[in-house]
Amino acid sequence: MNVLVTGGCGFIGSNLVKYLRKQRPQWKIVNFDKLTYAGNLENLKDLEGDAQHVFVKGDVNNREHVEHVLRQHGIEAVMHLAAESHVDRSILGPEAFTVTNVLGTQVLLEASRAVGLKRFLMVSTDEVYGSLGPTGAFTEESPLQPSSPYSASKTAADLLALAYAHTFGLDVVVTRCSNNYGRYQFPEKLIPLMVVNCLHDKPLPVYGDGAQIRDWLHVEDHCSALLLALERGKKGQTYNIGGGAERKNIDIVKGILKRTGKPETLIKYVQDRPGHDRRYAIDPTKTKRELGWAPAHTFEQGLDDTVTWYLENRTWWERVTSGAYRQYFDSQYKQRLSSAA
Ligand code: NAD
Ligand code: DAU
Repeated sequence: MNVLVTGGCGFIGSNLVKYLRKQRPQWKIVNFDKLTYAGNLENLKDLEGDAQHVFVKGDVNNREHVEHVLRQHGIEAVMHLAAESHVDRSILGPEAFTVTNVLGTQVLLEASRAVGLKRFLMVSTDEVYGSLGPTGAFTEESPLQPSSPYSASKTAADLLALAYAHTFGLDVVVTRCSNNYGRYQFPEKLIPLMVVNCLHDKPLPVYGDGAQIRDWLHVEDHCSALLLALERGKKGQTYNIGGGAERKNIDIVKGILKRTGKPETLIKYVQDRPGHDRRYAIDPTKTKRELGWAPAHTFEQGLDDTVTWYLENRTWWERVTSGAYRQYFDSQYKQRLSSAA
């Protein structure tokens, strides 16, 4: 099969491309990525010389180019991951999120319809459901109540994809997963940011009281679910993917301090994220039952492996956080630390 993965140079995308090459060696994977700050070809250096992995630099908002690539490579399925993915950035500048996440998805859906694509897998997020109270978990039937410009843009894209199935008969499957962690995550998200700060002996900015809860999913478990959803998912259906590892942010931060041998005095409580979702938890029953999926990683082992990877791959994270993006980090970081909670 010939598969187009959009955003295949980002965190989840690069893990997915490598996972697909391993699990389905006969498939051709065309990796379509704009290489924004979050996209990095170095994430795929293991695939150098692999003729079944084709990288195309491109923007999902460019209809002509997208359709050309779909036709040129005889693409049968699209796995759509390309997005602006960071909630804090969506609060600082929401426009790019609407452009890429909403309009870019629309362009891909239209191009897919035009070429008669066999399957469109839309990688959405549990953030479409908004925030939970202290109990319960999101099911596929939970109401959609996105809070941030990021999650609103992902909700629009998710619903557009489902509308294309309903209205035009496009074979769409939607997945909604919880917070991923693992190798090659850009150090703006909680886990890699805290690891990198620890290694620099810099304060760790914990938003608000640090008691917000996320349900952590190892990126490789996410990849296995995505392949199953692609192959076994039913047209027009959504599937929740969660690691069953609810943790408070502050406990994650303390776990990273312990693993890096740094003191808890590095913790600095700072002003909360505006509109901060309090708790996410996924009920993945449907995905387990219908797709036969089960996560293979425990959170503690996964975090051990992730921290070790960042310790051993300093050159990678030093490089991706240098240059123009150093400025973004430094200014955001200073601002956060000056706004103690
Ligand atoms: P990421 O920010 O690490 O990577 C995004 C990738 O998309 C980058 O390679 C970037 O270059 C590319 N991209 C951005 N704009 C593009 C455009 N206009 N055209 C082509 N490529 C473009 O993101 P991630 O964390 O790997 O997330 C991947 C997907 O999974 C996103 O759709 C995100 O919403 C979703 N998701 C992520 C998580 C998570 O915890 N990271 C959880 C749930 C859902
Ligand atoms: O739930 C899925 C979502 O998970 C994905 O759709 C998003 O693409 C992904 O970025 C992630 O969103 P979050 O906002 O949950 O992830 P982030 O790593 O930015 O933050 C995790 C939690 O940690 C959140 O409660 C905010 C908090 N936090 C984050 C940072 C960066 C801090 O306390 N301090 C920080 O410096």
